[in-house]
Amino acid sequence: MISNHSRYMHTTVFYLVVIMMKFSVRALSTATGYAARVFAKDAALSASHALPVVSGDTTSALASYMVLERCDVNGHLQVAWHDVASKNTERPFSIDFVDSKVARRGDAAGVGSELVVKAVGGVKKAASSPLVFDLTAGLGRDAFVMASAGFHVCMFERNAVLHALLEDALERLGRVQPALALRLQLCRWSGSDGDNNDSYANAISAFGGTPPDVCYLDPMYQKGSVGKRYLRACSCCLPLLYLTYIHLLMSTHPHKHTHTRTHTRTPLNSFRAAVKKETQVLHRLLGESEGDDEDNSRRLLEAALAMAVHRVAIKRPSDAPPLAGAVPHEVLTKTSHRCDLFFPPRPVLWG
Ligand SMILES: C[S@@+](CC[C@H](N)C(=O)[O-])C[C@H]1O[C@@H](n2cnc3c(N)ncnc32)[C@H](O)[C@@H]1O
Repeated sequence: MISNHSRYMHTTVFYLVVIMMKFSVRALSTATGYAARVFAKDAALSASHALPVVSGDTTSALASYMVLERCDVNGHLQVAWHDVASKNTERPFSIDFVDSKVARRGDAAGVGSELVVKAVGGVKKAASSPLVFDLTAGLGRDAFVMASAGFHVCMFERNAVLHALLEDALERLGRVQPALALRLQLCRWSGSDGDNNDSYANAISAFGGTPPDVCYLDPMYQKGSVGKRYLRACSCCLPLLYLTYIHLLMSTHPHKHTHTRTHTRTPLNSFRAAVKKETQVLHRLLGESEGDDEDNSRRLLEAALAMAVHRVAIKRPSDAPPLAGAVPHEVLTKTSHRCDLFFPPRPVLWG
């Protein structure tokens, strides 16, 4: 007979194992860098986006890869994720500014309360359509919200696949809401991997030499160092040992638990699922910490401070240190994230 005390112990250990397994699987995928390669579905997409065409020869050695394709049903440009081991058939991902969660965030009634809108000056300032350069557009969600509030937003995105998805989403938005689409532009990417100053200069000259009123940044942020991530990856053998231990115990003292759970799909659940999906897409395309390095952070901040006439706004998770260690003039906070603000005179950052 297993005593009550040891039963509790085993249950606790079991839950600990489950939690550790979760972390370990995440750590492993991070340690391998989510090394998904991106391919084009056909020759036309391959030519327009400079991606290799997908074929069995090239993908046979890959554990996972992504394919840029046009949806047969609605014609959206989308990325499909292929996980060879699990024969995963997840729903492909596309950016949509017309009928989506982000489109609803742009609704006139609520847009003024968005932190990002407050950070770039608030709805009152938006009335004069100030120019915002979003230097890290990503999935274009923040840029779309700013444009919906009335700002004129220029998006810069260095990842070619995200750039292509943004371009496609903007084209569709233009057909439905041309006035809004005019306030949301995607700048041609001409920078090298690190330096994007040419793209900024081209955009400024396209605006007749007018620099942006505001620069907005939201670079990737990965909690913890690379070293820590590898350590977590190595810890994956620990849960396996625990599992074997529990299995041995349970097989000598069979003890069955039956749990009945009902999952209800609430609006909050769908919202969370959508956010999770977006974060996953960014991580798969970019790696969890892409852009979260000292060099990139410094370059972005320096470029933003050099260009912005009125302010620089930087979105950070609540627990993240200030970008490149620069102390902001003002901070706006929300539960999960904050915006660090810099105003002229520009802070002297590095000697
Ligand atoms: C966290 S995402 C931004 C999410 C975005 N704010 C949104 O609302 O969807 C960060 C993005 O910045 C991009 N990025 C990072 N460093 C960059 C740089 N130096 N120039 C241009 N884009 C950069 C990454 O490719 C990534 O897509």
